[in-house]
Amino acid sequence: MLLCMGCQWVPFAEVVSLLTVAAVAWEAGKPLVIEEVDVAPPQAMEVRVKILFTSLCHTDVYFWEAKGQTPLFPRIFGHEAGGIVESVGQGVTDLEPGDHVLPVFTGECKECAHCKSEESNMCDLLRINTDRGVMLNDGKTRFSIDGKPIYHFVGTSTFSEYTVIHVGCLAKINPAAPLDKVCLLSCGISTGLGAALNVAKPKPGSTVAIFGLGAVGLAAAEGARIAGASRIIGVDLNSNRYDQAKKFGVTEFVNPKDHKKPVQEVLAEMTGGGVDRSIECTGSVSAMISAFECVHDGWGVAVLVGVPNKDDAFKTHPMNLLNERTLKGTFFGNYKPRSDLPSVVEKYMNKEIELEKFITHEVPFSEINKAFDYMLEGHSLRCIIRMDASP
Ligand SMILES: NC(=O)c1ccc[n+]([C@@H]2O[C@H](COP(=O)([O-])OP(=O)(O)OC[C@H]3O[C@@H](n4cnc5c(N)ncnc54)[C@H](O)[C@@H]3O)[C@@H](O)[C@H]2O)c1
Ligand SMILES: [Zn+2]
Ligand SMILES: [Zn+2]
Repeated sequence: MLLCMGCQWVPFAEVVSLLTVAAVAWEAGKPLVIEEVDVAPPQAMEVRVKILFTSLCHTDVYFWEAKGQTPLFPRIFGHEAGGIVESVGQGVTDLEPGDHVLPVFTGECKECAHCKSEESNMCDLLRINTDRGVMLNDGKTRFSIDGKPIYHFVGTSTFSEYTVIHVGCLAKINPAAPLDKVCLLSCGISTGLGAALNVAKPKPGSTVAIFGLGAVGLAAAEGARIAGASRIIGVDLNSNRYDQAKKFGVTEFVNPKDHKKPVQEVLAEMTGGGVDRSIECTGSVSAMISAFECVHDGWGVAVLVGVPNKDDAFKTHPMNLLNERTLKGTFFGNYKPRSDLPSVVEKYMNKEIELEKFITHEVPFSEINKAFDYMLEGHSLRCIIRMDASP
């Protein structure tokens, strides 16, 4: 804003609350309601972002359904998105208004032992916390309706035209990158790609099983293909997924429902003892156990990606581990959001990865509930939700 001070126009950054439009989840499993919501100014180390595009990931759906998760309502969901910085709070030096950013559900403070480790992306300060609905700075929300607080989700709450996010959960990206495509890199696609390339690390010529052929699983298949895997076996309860999956390098398909014996035994028979790598992208604990037990002894590595229910327990015989199988898990494909995500965006810009094929649906913000229906019916990979806004 420009203010006249002694007949001289000088820049003055006045950051005030603003009224925005957001999709509020008032109750578990009930359609979201588009509401006018007050968004407070960003506090120290926070950034207010104008969201242009967002999409739906299954993690939003679990916490909205709140069947196996802690219910916290009213809440604004959304964590896969792209936007533009509107204003910054005190102490923010890395970002300024106009910067293009991708919000990420798990952050990077750049100072803790995890952020300094080459191996971890589990930042002490900003790692994913699905049960916290408030900002770290003051334990309060930045969203309210008539003074009543509306809770945040994983620090991002992107189902809102404006949202407030900790600077450590924002990756600054190439402004030439189309936000309606690269928004997908802010969760699902980077998670699947990274689970394959950074964590499972299949060797050229190896056999990889992917459990769950949604967007995350298909991005993992894409990562396995890029790494040179020769057989990529997709496992899904929904047989309609197979045709789509072929476009992502999946070479064979197994539906556990078509077999009497456990799917891990089916896979072992198909592969002479087990797959070299498996990547689980379903969120089902029984699929997680199968994904571990289907890897070859001696060298097999299983990677868990799906988000389990709160009370799930993973049970397998210890001999499965003694027989030299490895079990791993990862959030966000082991990428550090601020340090690594800009270069994943560049891979899209250089045509090393394709995002268009993950986009099966698009809806305006006013029809956001359709995105939930498409995912629950198993029809969509990713549905782009266009906020009623232009840059
Ligand atoms: N770890 C992370 O950082 C991270 C990030 C994003 C998403 N996730 C999780 O990854 C999972 C996949 O997300 P998505 O958005 O691709 O979901 P999605 O709903 O689009 O895809 C999930 C697929 O799994 C299949 N499936 C479900 N149960 C199965 C079973 N028992 N056996 C075989 N297939 C089964 C479904 O039919 C579906 O095709 C979810 O659990 C999500 O919460 C984790
Ligand atoms: Zn997600
Ligand atoms: Zn950190």
